Amino acid sequence: MSPSNAVNRVAIVGAGTIGSSWAALCLAHGLNVVAADPAPHAETNLRAYVARAWKILASLGLSPGASPDRLRFTADLGEALQNADFVQENGPEVRDFKIRLFAEMDRVAPPDSLLASSTSWLTADVLQSQCHHPERCIVGHPLNPPHVIPLVEVVGGAQTSPEALQRAVAFYASLGRKPILLRKALPGHVVNRLQAALYKEILWLVQHGVLSIADTDALISFGPGLRWAVMGPSLQWHLAGGSGGIHHFMEQLMEPLCGVMGHLGAPDLTEALRQAVIDGVEQQAGDHSVEQLADRENQIIVDLLTLRARSGA
Ligand SMILES: NC(=O)c1ccc[n+]([C@@H]2O[C@H](COP(=O)([O-])OP(=O)(O)OC[C@H]3O[C@@H](n4cnc5c(N)ncnc54)[C@H](O)[C@@H]3O)[C@@H](O)[C@H]2O)c1
Repeated sequence: MSPSNAVNRVAIVGAGTIGSSWAALCLAHGLNVVAADPAPHAETNLRAYVARAWKILASLGLSPGASPDRLRFTADLGEALQNADFVQENGPEVRDFKIRLFAEMDRVAPPDSLLASSTSWLTADVLQSQCHHPERCIVGHPLNPPHVIPLVEVVGGAQTSPEALQRAVAFYASLGRKPILLRKALPGHVVNRLQAALYKEILWLVQHGVLSIADTDALISFGPGLRWAVMGPSLQWHLAGGSGGIHHFMEQLMEPLCGVMGHLGAPDLTEALRQAVIDGVEQQAGDHSVEQLADRENQIIVDLLTLRARSGA
């Protein structure tokens, strides 16, 4: 494998929501990007996405030579991958489709290139199962949108080489991301398991009439969400323990916390519950389009990240 600083040409496979954001991020770092997507309006949508994201990326600082003009588009996978150093796959989240797509990517990409998937739920073991070079297949799971949210979960399968994982971590770090290497592959990796755990309880609370959808959103974003954006939940317990810190918390508060865990509920995803979620979300979104809401959220997150960087956190 070539060293991470050799990554110059990135191929984006699947240029929907996530692929477009990866493309914009790579372009802002001065890389040459080729995107492949068979959908009829994919190129138009991709270029429009990059143009919209550029303002935020420019405010964060562009690398020398960074330009949307370094973006090429093709509907042909082989053409996109023929000279790629790094491939980021973002196709539809369908197991058999992704297995076939990875086998095809493995066939056409240079053998020393790295094949990464943004998959939210599949493991690298599944993706590499039909590949001749499974050692270079990894999961690089971002949060939406990857050009704003720094976290990338990096995890391999049983046949992934340690060098491939190291190279992926170095590459994502070179894009200003915060790669976290998972030591074991699990469906949903870690972030989506945590989101599922929290949302399981939110759905249960709504189903049992404790709170509305809008109230649970406010509760998180005006409460623990503010703190979690600065320090993670375990370090928060140190603060919760006062001057006694985590030791006091462990003595006094960990047991009640664990006691509640035994009472957490399991929601029943009925039609009524689905409708309650849809109504609650539409009520909060009001007249704002998804793009307007995303732009507002992205700007606040970028401001927050800038504040964090300034305070050294
Ligand atoms: N949306 C999210 O919040 C999010 C977050 C993290 C990870 N992911 C993961 O990222 C991946 C993409 O999700 P998305 O939300 O961008 O989906 P999307 O539907 O917006 O985009 C998928 C794109 O893949 C294209 N495509 C279909 N067949 C293809 C092929 N043979 N070759 C190349 N491209 C093809 C489609 O035309 C479409 O543009 C999924 O694996 C998903 O789990 C999504």
